[in-house]
Amino acid sequence: MLFKFRRHAASDAPRRASPKRQRLPLVGLICVTLLVASTAQAQINEPIQPLPIQTKLDAKKVALGKLLFNDKRLSRDNSIACASCHNLTSGADGLRTSVGLGGAVLPTNAPTVFNSSHNFRQRWDGKAPTLEALVSLILASPQIMDNKWPDVVAKFEQDSTLVAQFKQAYPDGVKGPNIAHAIAEYERSLTTPNARFDKYLRGDKSALTVDEVRGYERFKSYGCVACHQGVNVGGNMFQKFGVMGDYFAARGNPKPADLGRYNVTKDDADKHVFKVPSLRNVALTAPYFHDGSASTLEAAVAVMFKYQLGRDASAEDRDLIVKFLHTLTGELDGKSLAVAGTRDASSK
Ligand code: HEC
Ligand code: HEC
Repeated sequence: MLFKFRRHAASDAPRRASPKRQRLPLVGLICVTLLVASTAQAQINEPIQPLPIQTKLDAKKVALGKLLFNDKRLSRDNSIACASCHNLTSGADGLRTSVGLGGAVLPTNAPTVFNSSHNFRQRWDGKAPTLEALVSLILASPQIMDNKWPDVVAKFEQDSTLVAQFKQAYPDGVKGPNIAHAIAEYERSLTTPNARFDKYLRGDKSALTVDEVRGYERFKSYGCVACHQGVNVGGNMFQKFGVMGDYFAARGNPKPADLGRYNVTKDDADKHVFKVPSLRNVALTAPYFHDGSASTLEAAVAVMFKYQLGRDASAEDRDLIVKFLHTLTGELDGKSLAVAGTRDASSK
């Protein structure tokens, strides 16, 4: 059975997972259909699509963005870089909720930066429509960078090597929008294609074990896929956390961040509504949820069964789905992110 859920305000941004169909003349359509059918038969009718293997990006801007992502001068007191909370092992920090400037405890868990360019919006509450907009929010956040663009530009302008590098990538040199763009361009390079599941979707049936395929089947049949779908296995809609029960009453200790999308729209219907997170590389990104409350994937899946689907997960269902989720671990720059000796790395 497949559950249908109300989409929350997903219409205020284009859904990346559903490219506009174009009208083709009938003959063209038949040719295209034959061509596609012969090369990509395995993907037809699947609710999840493989990540593109290549992304067209400006190499100079990516290289500059990489420097800036690791540059602590973005923060007011030169103590924190983006990389402080988004390491390249998982794209996140492994903490329940992140720790910012001067030890400030942030209200939410850091999602991975990997594949964030495939999300329809950024942040749990979707406040940032683009990666560039998110850089500006982070820069201004008193708990993260606590900085202002003119001050960052002034610092960078004292660094002649960096100034020269900017001139190479951006004719107008060191400017706030260029800094944000370069960082975003680097983030767009941080995609992790070639997960075993992607190989399976592309037609390599031996890429998954029998149990992993069964896990995927259950992920679909129980309705996880109603929310976690598309190229990012999530990241393309808003949904309430607690569709089938009050997760927050059960957890206790309510916090402003629990209101999610409501904090952006002030619309009562958006209380406890969050961007559905991508499940790509989810085996690497514990702890889970916006509050970091689930420390294992097993626990997170059980919570999803209970509060999103209204069911108690059997141990078998939970374990098979967790096995499937482990197949979503991809490759960064051609190297598998799977930790040696784990089941992600094992079996082909
Ligand atoms: C102090 C730790 C910290 C630092 C430093 C930091 N982040 Fe984050 N990042 C977070 C947290 C926490 C969130 C989740 C915020 C939210 O949605 O409530 C987040 C969210 C994100 C997201 C959204 C991902 C998604 O799926 O919604 C991206 C992209 C991102 N950060 C990139 C960056 C970049 C680029 C920088 C540097 C300019 C940066 N971060 C600096 C902790 C940090
Ligand atoms: C009605 C939509 C919906 C359904 C159905 C759903 N999820 Fe979710 N899922 C969400 C939302 C929303 C979140 C984010 C909750 C939060 O942290 O605020 C989430 C979070 C998660 C996370 C944590 C990811 C992270 O990085 O923190 C996992 C794992 C997950 N879901 C797996 C599943 C599985 C497995 C199923 C099926 C048993 C499922 N989900 C069904 C909407 C849904």
